[in-house]
Amino acid sequence: MLRTFSRTAWCLALAAGTGLAAQDGEALFRKSCMSCHTIGGGVKTGPDLKGVTTRRPREWALAFIQAPGSFIDKGDPVALQLLKDANNVKMPELGITAAEADAILKLIDELTKSGKVLGSKGIDRPPTPLDLQKGKAMFEGRLRFAGGGPACLSCHSASGSGTFGGGRLGPQLNAAPGKYGKNLATTIENPAFPSMVNVFAKKALTPEEAFQVAAYLHSVGTQPPPRKDIVFPIVGFVGLLGSLALGGHLGRKRFRGVRKNLVPKA
Ligand code: HEC
Ligand code: HEC
Repeated sequence: MLRTFSRTAWCLALAAGTGLAAQDGEALFRKSCMSCHTIGGGVKTGPDLKGVTTRRPREWALAFIQAPGSFIDKGDPVALQLLKDANNVKMPELGITAAEADAILKLIDELTKSGKVLGSKGIDRPPTPLDLQKGKAMFEGRLRFAGGGPACLSCHSASGSGTFGGGRLGPQLNAAPGKYGKNLATTIENPAFPSMVNVFAKKALTPEEAFQVAAYLHSVGTQPPPRKDIVFPIVGFVGLLGSLALGGHLGRKRFRGVRKNLVPKA
């Protein structure tokens, strides 16, 4: 009885071990690793993982991913050197199982061979006025994303974006720069948010686009969210006054009269 049970458990474990493919590896990588690593996109907080399966024994990489701290504790020379190269930032224990680590390594193998890149270290330069302008235009959908992704404004709003405020499906984004800091651009490039993963999986923003949208959000992040319901009647009213004034047929006296009538109603 016990034997049968343990044999079943063993079979299940085997099935689980072989059941994760490179696609599962990609989802896992995006969720747990991409904030610190790229595959072929350059060094971030941690090393570029392209070719890691050829520069280290596979067993080493498999075990390291599951318990990086233990390698440092036991004085593994490779791990200590990596730690030094990473300015003493330790890779956290992420609770990755052997099957998951294997799926991630399969993905790394695949991308190393095909030369495809996953993740980027982002763009690190001060944004120019043109970056902000393009970022705003892409956020609002006046400028298309190269990959064909939908405008952010269809689900989000941010101060000053769009005439009618923007979508309500996603949160208002004025607080996002404070929350994500300098990682906002890479967060936008590889969003892990459930509602955005599917929409952007095959239509990811380029690092440049993500940088520009993030720069735009940083620029509006400090302003309080406008009350559209109040702002637009005011803008409309000022516009109305402007056109009345420009009409030129109104004397100053009469203009004041119109104003007196309109003000209490606004
Ligand atoms: C918070 C940042 C961070 C996260 C998240 C992270 N790592 Fe790391 N990783 C590092 C750092 C830093 C190093 C360098 C070694 C050290 O300092 O511990 C490293 C080293 C590695 C190495 C060794 C690289 C080499 O050249 O030998 C592998 C493999 C690795 N990470 C895989 C992963 C995988 C897979 C995940 C996701 C399951 C992951 N890491 C998540 C920061 C991170
Ligand atoms: C299809 C709708 C949709 C589109 C399009 C979309 N988002 Fe989102 N986004 C969401 C939702 C919904 C959330 C909230 C998390 C969740 O439920 O997945 C979110 C979350 C976020 C967050 C995290 C906010 C926080 O407070 O943590 C950021 C940042 C973000 N989106 C930026 C963007 C940017 C930039 C774009 C355009 C490139 C974009 N989103 C396009 C739906 C969308």
